[in-house]
Amino acid sequence: MTIAIRKPSLGSAATAFLAKPHKLLIDGKWVDAKSGQTFPVEDPATEEVIAHVPAGDKADIDAAVAAARRAFETGPWSRILPGDRSRLVWRLGDLLEQHADEFAELEALDNGKPVTNARRDDVQGSINMFRYMAGWSTRLTGETIPVSSPGNWHVYTLREPVGVVGQIIPWNFPLMMAAWKLAPALAAGCTIVLKPAEQTPLTALRFGELIQEAGFPDGVVNIITGYGETAGAALANHPDVDKVAFTGSTEVGKLIVKAAAGNLKRVSLELGGKSPAIVFPDADIDRAISGTASAIFYNQGQCCTAGSRLFAHKSVYDRVVEGVSAEAGKIKIGHGLDPNVNLGPLVSKEQHNRVRGFLESGRKEGAEVVTGGNVPGNQGYFVEPTVLANTNRDMRVVREEIFGPVVCVQSFDDDDLEAVAKFANDTEYGLQASVWTSNLKVAHMMARKIRAGTICINNHNYGDPAWPFGGYKQSGWGREMGKEVMEHYTETKAIAALL
Ligand code: NAI
Ligand code: MG
Repeated sequence: MTIAIRKPSLGSAATAFLAKPHKLLIDGKWVDAKSGQTFPVEDPATEEVIAHVPAGDKADIDAAVAAARRAFETGPWSRILPGDRSRLVWRLGDLLEQHADEFAELEALDNGKPVTNARRDDVQGSINMFRYMAGWSTRLTGETIPVSSPGNWHVYTLREPVGVVGQIIPWNFPLMMAAWKLAPALAAGCTIVLKPAEQTPLTALRFGELIQEAGFPDGVVNIITGYGETAGAALANHPDVDKVAFTGSTEVGKLIVKAAAGNLKRVSLELGGKSPAIVFPDADIDRAISGTASAIFYNQGQCCTAGSRLFAHKSVYDRVVEGVSAEAGKIKIGHGLDPNVNLGPLVSKEQHNRVRGFLESGRKEGAEVVTGGNVPGNQGYFVEPTVLANTNRDMRVVREEIFGPVVCVQSFDDDDLEAVAKFANDTEYGLQASVWTSNLKVAHMMARKIRAGTICINNHNYGDPAWPFGGYKQSGWGREMGKEVMEHYTETKAIAALL
C-alpha cells in the first residue's frame, strides 16, 4: 500500500504564527533561551522543519520559577479575588474559541493528527476544560469541624493554592494536556511553569499569547520549551517548586518521583496504559466493532487509554477480528491537515521506529497479522492500522505499551466474570477498560472487578472535564479533572481557635 502525502495549505493565522520568531514566556516577557540555543520543530507527515523554538534549560527554568514565586507571593495574583480569577480562566476558553481553527491547524501540523479531530476534540476539549474549571475558583470551600476536646473550640479548614507548580506535558494531545493542567491550577490560584513536549511545542507557545491577552498578571504562567532531560529534569528537581504534574511515559514518571524527593514536592502522574476492551457475546456487535476499532486507531493509537488489548468471547471472536480489520481498511491515511484524513503519521521518527520494532516483535513471537503491519509510503512517520490476532499474554506486544495503531486480539471462552477480569487485570497498568455488553449486570459487575481508574461501558476513550481521570497501579498517581483534581492544586489548612 502506498499513499501520496500532499500537504494542504495552512490558514493565514497559523501561517502568520509559524513565521514569527518563537520565544520563551518568562515573567510576562517573550525571551530567547539564555544559552541562545534553539531546536527544530518538524511536520511528521513530510519530515520538513516548520519552525525553530528556544531550547530552554536549567537557567531558563530557574528564571521562570523565580518569576512564578514572585507572582505567587507578592504580585497582584496573590491578592486576586476568587471571582476575578474565575473570570480570567473563563476568558481563556472564550479566546481559544475565537482562534479555534488556527489552534486545530497548528496542532494537526505539529503532531500529525487529523485536523477535524483536533478541532472537535483537542481544541473543543480545552475550551470546555477552562469553562468547567473556571467555576471551581469560587467553590473551594473549607469546613467547620465539630471537635470533642473540652472547652469552646472553633475548628475549621481553609483550602489554599499549593504554590508554584511545574507542569510537564506530552505530545499526544499537546494543547489539551496543557489545558487539563493549567485550568485547575489557575482556578486554584497557583502559579505555573509549563514545559511542553519537545516534539510539539507550538500550540503551547501560541496559547501563551492568549494568556497575556486574557490579562493574567506577569509570571503567573511561564512557558519553557526544551528537552525533557534538561528543562524537564530541572523543573522536576527544582527546590522552589511546590508541586509537579506530569503526563508521559511510566519510565519518566519514575524519574519524576525520584527528582521530587529533594524537597518532597507534591507529585501527580498520568502514565502509560494497556487498556482492555472486552466484548461479550450479547454485545451489539456492530457497535462493539466500530467502538473497539476507534478505541485503538483514534489519534494513531497514541492515547494513554488506547484499547490495545481486545478480548472477544470465542463465540464472537471471528466476527470481531473480521469487523475490526474491515474498519481498519476503511481508514484514510494522509496529512493531518487534509480534512478527509482519519489517520495521520506518528509524532516522530523515534515513535515510528518504536512501533515498527513492536510490529517486528509481534511477527517473531507468532502473532497473526490480519491486516496492516506495514509502513505506507516513503515519507513521513506513517504506520498502517494493524490487527494482530492469536496473541497471548506472554508476547511483548501484549505486555508493553505500543502507542501506535496496533491492536492485539485474544479470545476468551470463560463465562465466569472473575476469570474474565483476571485476563483484563493481567497488566502492570490500570488506566482504562471498556466492557461491551447489553447485560447491565455483566457491565457493572465487570466495572467493579477491573482494577483501572476509568471504566467505559459500550464506549472507549471517554473524557469530560467533570469526569475524574487517572490510573491504578503503574498508570499513575492521582486524578485529573472533576472535583478530584482540585486536591492536587490545593493544601488544606486546619485552624483551631480556643474561644
Ligand atoms: P516521555 O515520558 O519522555 O515525554 C513526556 C514529557 O516528559 C515530555 O515533555 C518530555 O520532554 C518530558 N521528559 C522526558 N524526560 C524527562 C525527564 N528526565 N525529566 C522531566 N521530564 C522529562 O515520553 P516519550 O519518550 O516521548 O515517549 C515514550 C513512550 O511514553 C511512548 O511510546 C508512550 O508509550 C509513552 N507516552 C505516554 C503518554 C501518555 O499520555 N501517558 C504520552 C507520551 C508518551
Ligand atoms: Mg522520553
